[in-house]
Amino acid sequence: MGEIERDQAGFYANAEGYWKAVPPTVDGMLGGYGSISNVDINGSKALLQRFLGEGGTDNGCALDCGAGIGRITKRLLLPLFRTVDLVDVTREFLDQARVSLGDDPAAAARVGHYFCCGLQDFVPEKNRYDVIWIQWVIGHLTDEHLVDFLRRCQAALRPGGLVVVKDNVSYEGVVPDDVDSSVCRDLSLLMGLVERAGLRVVHREQEQNFPKEIYQVHTLALR
Ligand SMILES: C[S@@+](CC[C@H](N)C(=O)[O-])C[C@H]1O[C@@H](n2cnc3c(N)ncnc32)[C@H](O)[C@@H]1O
Repeated sequence: MGEIERDQAGFYANAEGYWKAVPPTVDGMLGGYGSISNVDINGSKALLQRFLGEGGTDNGCALDCGAGIGRITKRLLLPLFRTVDLVDVTREFLDQARVSLGDDPAAAARVGHYFCCGLQDFVPEKNRYDVIWIQWVIGHLTDEHLVDFLRRCQAALRPGGLVVVKDNVSYEGVVPDDVDSSVCRDLSLLMGLVERAGLRVVHREQEQNFPKEIYQVHTLALR
């Protein structure tokens, strides 16, 4: 990723510009694949339920990273956790998240914070979160920033807490995407960054029911 490290400012600015122009809809969040949202959420729910309760992870507070319009907060995290915080770099998406979550005022009242910030700069509060969910956003961080962010996430976990990374994985190496200014890493590169961050993989699975033509999607539960 040498070139990207050299032109870091452009890498982040171009991504911000790209997302500002994307409609604040589920289809916008999923690059036109809004139809996979149900399968995605169901797979994530099954994974989280392994850890909640008997699994030793509490259901107090979750953080949705790169939350966008709150697709995951609404369908996965608010039904399972007492409080949910959202962080995203695109203000328009967080504004839409407030509107969309407002469909259920009782659930919306359990949102703690809407943080408008890039994950490369975001410092989650220490010892606050039972689950930190990071989905379809790590490709927007450089290697160094991803490692540092994962370290800060680990420090923000409560006892029994989990960091979950769910994202596209390439077949080999780093595949850049100049359209949205991101990269897709292969699984061994991603695992290397997780290890550098000092996190341990406690569970790993590949989403089985997604369309064949998209990248493989892997979920790593870390602590
Ligand atoms: C593919 S969408 C995924 C949204 C959400 N995680 C979901 O699965 O519905 C990527 C999101 O990452 C956000 N994003 C891009 N770069 C970011 C950064 N550096 N820090 C935080 N959020 C970022 C975008 O604004 C967008 O909401």
